Amino acid sequence: MKTIDIDTRPFTDQKPGTSGLRKRVSVFQQPHYLENFVQSIFNTIGDLSGKTLVLGGDGRFYNLPAIQTILRMSSANGARSVIVGRDGLLSTPAASCVIRGREADGGIILSASHNPGGERGDFGIKFNASNGGPAPESLTERIYHESRHIASYRTLDTGAVDVAMGGSQDLNGMRVEVIDPVDDYAHLMEGLFDFNLIHQMFNSGHFRMRFDAMNAVTGPYATRILERMLGAEPGTVMNGVPLEDFGGLHPDPNLVYAKDLVEILYSKGGPDFGAAADGDGDRNMILGKRFFVTPSDSLAVMAANAHLLPGYRRGVRGIARSMPTSGAADRVAEALGVECFETPTGWKFFGNLLDEGRINLCGEESFGTGSDHVREKDGLWAVLFWLNMLAVKRAPVETIVRQHWRQFGRNYYSRHDYEGIPADAAQSMIEALRADVSGLEGKQIAGRAVAQGNDFEYTDPVDGSVTSRQGIRIIFEDGARIVFRLSGTGTEGATLRVYIESFEADPDRHDLETQAALSDLIDAAGEIGRIRHYTGRDEPSVIT
Ligand code: G1P
Ligand code: ZN
Repeated sequence: MKTIDIDTRPFTDQKPGTSGLRKRVSVFQQPHYLENFVQSIFNTIGDLSGKTLVLGGDGRFYNLPAIQTILRMSSANGARSVIVGRDGLLSTPAASCVIRGREADGGIILSASHNPGGERGDFGIKFNASNGGPAPESLTERIYHESRHIASYRTLDTGAVDVAMGGSQDLNGMRVEVIDPVDDYAHLMEGLFDFNLIHQMFNSGHFRMRFDAMNAVTGPYATRILERMLGAEPGTVMNGVPLEDFGGLHPDPNLVYAKDLVEILYSKGGPDFGAAADGDGDRNMILGKRFFVTPSDSLAVMAANAHLLPGYRRGVRGIARSMPTSGAADRVAEALGVECFETPTGWKFFGNLLDEGRINLCGEESFGTGSDHVREKDGLWAVLFWLNMLAVKRAPVETIVRQHWRQFGRNYYSRHDYEGIPADAAQSMIEALRADVSGLEGKQIAGRAVAQGNDFEYTDPVDGSVTSRQGIRIIFEDGARIVFRLSGTGTEGATLRVYIESFEADPDRHDLETQAALSDLIDAAGEIGRIRHYTGRDEPSVIT
């Protein structure tokens, strides 16, 4: 076995987006493509000697070949050891947990999250630092810079390593440690939540749930924790075996893509609680009997009740939400007298706040919630949080949310996505909005006065770094908002996201259907953004 240096030429498109480098599988299959990016990571983080990395992915097509490539390159680049999930599996939050728990120097996660998988689907790769969190912008920029200048990469001239069996083996002087992908994570969860109480709830015979793993990575995690450790009945977990193409499902836990689960929860005699996670296990959707909890509300309800759970007894220290996420959590933070931060879209912006202890809960409208237990959003953690809350409060999901609205008011909230639109039209639209939006200040739109119109810019309170152009915002005096931004995770054309929100304090007006409650703002967004003109579409492709 020997180390070899292979000549290569830069690819120009290896710029990480909202969450790592995501491309079609066929792009990653080009000779040297993956290797170039991995070497760019290694060149950026510096000398690997003596270092330990964690490696795993969501099991999608190309996961296993990529694992082999990265193992060889890690050894050739001098790493001391790589901890890899058995069969190449690690959910994104579990990878974060293993990096932190085993004090590794960082990790490489292979996933395109909720994007479809399979040979014609997407693949992705991202680097997480020693805190277990996604590399900050400053690092991803340097990786991108490296990728533009790379001339060779270093690898080993050897066959495949067996990652199907646990235990340690040697790869040309580097230790490869294959671990059970669930153990560390399950142990962490046991320390945060009251497993006995949840077990009693399942045992009572009066509580049933369904968890949809969408044929993706959370299957083994949910089966072990919900069915084996917490005593939920067999069959609670559906689509529980990870498949390379997710069985053709689009593993994004929302009302559109988790349709089967939604039907079960809305059916007669259906279970009391439903949840789903995405491809790599960091997103979650929460459902009650015939009731959908918006992710923004979920974060707020969790914050208001955190003190009831063992891992959060000392209460909420501070909350952060991404800018487009509804303001529901802000009201809880205010009531608790703790700080609330508004960050750009993407989990990496929570990292500094979590590391500094300024916050211990955070979330995004895009079905992401998390805490300081890891440095990624965490789907199954959110489900366990809700289960623990339900077991303590002994009330149905809907009752808990309605009580929350009565206490704090209701933020009606919806996101309209226009997927696969031409990239230049999308750019022109955002540029036009950017140029004009401040001119809306003081005007009346949809019967509301515009308080602010701007393009969101964030100054990180910890390191002072500034991130600009994060979304066009129209903020009304009564708290309503319209936000426009382009997706940073798509792989085909552009996706326009329009976020619409209004606030309603009056409990007599908490029963409106969301789209109806927001209809005047939705119309206004269409006019201000000239959505039809730029996208050529009459309707969004997905409404969440
Ligand atoms: C989307 C979500 C964002 C999330 C990201 C990664 O990014 O909107 O909240 O952090 O996926 O899961 P976007 O495509 O909007 O850039
Ligand atoms: Zn994900």
